[in-house]
Amino acid sequence: MSYSYHALKEAINSLKRYRTHSISRHHERYSFPFLSGTYFSYRKIDVLRLVSIAYSVSKDPSYLDVGCGYGDFLKRIRQYIPNATGIEKNSEIFYECGIGKPNFIKIADAQWGIEQNYDIIFVGWMDPGVDFRDAIKSRSDVVITTLDQGLSLAAEYDGHGYRRIAYWRTPSWDDVNYEILNRHYTKIPLETYLKLSNMRRAHNLWYIYCSNETKSEVIVKALKRNNNEECKSLSNRYDFENVLDECGFRYLESTGDPISCEERLWEICFDNS
Ligand SMILES: C[S@@+](CC[C@H](N)C(=O)[O-])C[C@H]1O[C@@H](n2cnc3c(N)ncnc32)[C@H](O)[C@@H]1O
Repeated sequence: MSYSYHALKEAINSLKRYRTHSISRHHERYSFPFLSGTYFSYRKIDVLRLVSIAYSVSKDPSYLDVGCGYGDFLKRIRQYIPNATGIEKNSEIFYECGIGKPNFIKIADAQWGIEQNYDIIFVGWMDPGVDFRDAIKSRSDVVITTLDQGLSLAAEYDGHGYRRIAYWRTPSWDDVNYEILNRHYTKIPLETYLKLSNMRRAHNLWYIYCSNETKSEVIVKALKRNNNEECKSLSNRYDFENVLDECGFRYLESTGDPISCEERLWEICFDNS
């Protein structure tokens, strides 16, 4: 997803206008994900799951976020993996938004290769027509992707030497954004609002891929162990998670989607070996 200088300027102005009438400081995270949040919505448990995967394969894990944007998610990861880094090809996100570029984010294009090996590579996105999966493959045994159904399907790594070992589902930014807009910022009859609300979907898939069988086993064990613990620590969470609850995207909430009817939000599904 590349933005022209002009589009970015327009988005920044639009965000400034939005702030004059928004009723919660957390809403812009879902309405302006590029500038104020992420394209996948997450809770602290997502961060903790990735952290548990990283520490299951290494005592001192190296972690790279490819296409990290301005680093919203990466900063959360760095609270647990302090030397985690990111690469982002669009420098304007920093300069136009007046955000200082942190040293842990390097301006680089993954398409031209990744400089070193990592224990974990996290890939949130690949632009249509771009494929850097081979560059990733040579640099890590473990790849975690977030895949927005219908938008970034090319982000699957089966067939690139990896096997998917686990996955879970969360809403994408626009699943939450529609609900926020209909609920708080649009004048529509209640009946219409309820109809729209019942059409709620959750389109974002987190896929864990691994190319090494021993590491796969270790990661699955860590995720299962972590899963038992996370139910006990759900109150320890980020302040913006209230918006997800309010919009009907609660932990283990049924998606109501006929295609994924067996899956509940944030429920970890394990692939058979
Ligand atoms: C959809 S945005 C996601 C940003 C962030 N991960 C998030 O969820 O908010 C995709 C990001 O990947 C960056 N990107 C796309 N292709 C890239 C590449 N080949 N190398 C590095 N960054 C890339 C884009 O500039 C953009 O910031």
